[in-house]
Amino acid sequence: MATWSAPGKVFLFGEHAVVYGKPGIAMAIKPRVFVTVRKTRHPTRAKSPYIDNCFEMTGVTGSVYINSQLPSSSGLGSSAAVTVATLSAINDEFALNRTREDIANMAFEIEKKVQKGRASPTDTTVSAFGGIVLITGTSRRRLPPQNMHLVIGDSLVSHSTTKMVEQVADLRRQQPKIVDPILDAIEGVSLTAIHHLSNPKELGCYMDMNHALLEALGVGHPQLSRLVLAARSAGAFGAKITGAGGGGCMVALCAKPIRHRVARAIEACEARAIVTGIDTEGVRKERNA
Ligand code: PMV
Repeated sequence: MATWSAPGKVFLFGEHAVVYGKPGIAMAIKPRVFVTVRKTRHPTRAKSPYIDNCFEMTGVTGSVYINSQLPSSSGLGSSAAVTVATLSAINDEFALNRTREDIANMAFEIEKKVQKGRASPTDTTVSAFGGIVLITGTSRRRLPPQNMHLVIGDSLVSHSTTKMVEQVADLRRQQPKIVDPILDAIEGVSLTAIHHLSNPKELGCYMDMNHALLEALGVGHPQLSRLVLAARSAGAFGAKITGAGGGGCMVALCAKPIRHRVARAIEACEARAIVTGIDTEGVRKERNA
């Protein structure tokens, strides 16, 4: 039996713009998904196309047990974390000798297949390696890890990443003269933010700017605006939508002493708050029996 866990992720900067080859900055965060794989003659497993594909790709069969601390379908990368942890547990249980890089690549192939081509390597890279990753087109570069105090607000409003990506594409087709400069401005924010990752006060201002630009792209939602404003009023350095928008989550950057105050302010808006920080490890082995 092998148990592995993998972290979730948030986009700090550049979501949507990354779809157009602009830089994006994503960070692995603490809530994890735990996956146990066991060699058995009569496999039982959770029904999930991600897990089915992990077994199909590796050509083995076994039982799987999943324990997730990450809310699913909220843009926190839970499908990538499940896929990365499952592939790693299979790799261990069946001694397949795949590297972490192999696992990240295989997980990306599975996300692409299940999501019908609409996946970026962001989630699988961040979940496999941890830390902060800069994504530009197909290139991925790890940035120096920073100890940030984050509060995620899950609006509990369901959304579809595919739909939001299509909505931005439609707007861009209709209004290229407006949308292209917004995407360029997001790029400017991300490229500037890279140099201030260790300065939360400054970084918070860039998060606020990125949020305004995401709203200009039409991916805001009244409940997300409410959470962002509540977090800022409670003293966060900055707050923004994280991920596809239209629902899902926002993220606030705080000083350590006020993170619980920010979380309470978010929860007072009928949302779920997660107080978290960077995960620098990526996928890891939990125990073997
Ligand atoms: O829904 P999430 O958190 O996986 O974020 C989607 C981010 C987009 O830039 C909108 C799409 C993408 O594939 O990068």
